[in-house]
Amino acid sequence: MQRRNFIKQICKASLVCAASASIATLQSCSDSNDSDSGANPTLPITEISIDLNDSIYTPLKTVGRSVVTGSLNFDSSGLLLFRESNEKLRAYSRRCPHAGTSINAFVNGAATCPNHGAKFNTDGSSVSGGPTNAPLNQYSVDINGSIATIYK
Ligand code: FES
Repeated sequence: MQRRNFIKQICKASLVCAASASIATLQSCSDSNDSDSGANPTLPITEISIDLNDSIYTPLKTVGRSVVTGSLNFDSSGLLLFRESNEKLRAYSRRCPHAGTSINAFVNGAATCPNHGAKFNTDGSSVSGGPTNAPLNQYSVDINGSIATIYK
């Protein structure tokens, strides 16, 4: 009889210890989630800065020149940039409004889509007679010295 009581007490003590450990584990998991509840790791990128002294962008120091970029976190289609005047730089998404192909840089005042041939003027409007009448998606640009900041 004493042996049976001893085993019962050991089993009860083991259950109490296991339950306490489980609750402590669950509590610690809950605490770690609560501390992250205010974080948002997927904030959209709404502006990007480029340095016109970087070799890829130096053509933009000259009025009338154009540069395109590859895919960026700011715009997955890349940017189509055009230096309109000493004071003004235009920035467009390279995404063609017809079917989404990346548009080439401006040459002789027009940017051409290599897919179906849509053409766009330097103000972003489409050249009539092409496969789309929609304009390019334009971004705002501020220039401060050699730094151009592009905003959505
Ligand atoms: S995708 Fe550009 S013209 Fe069709």
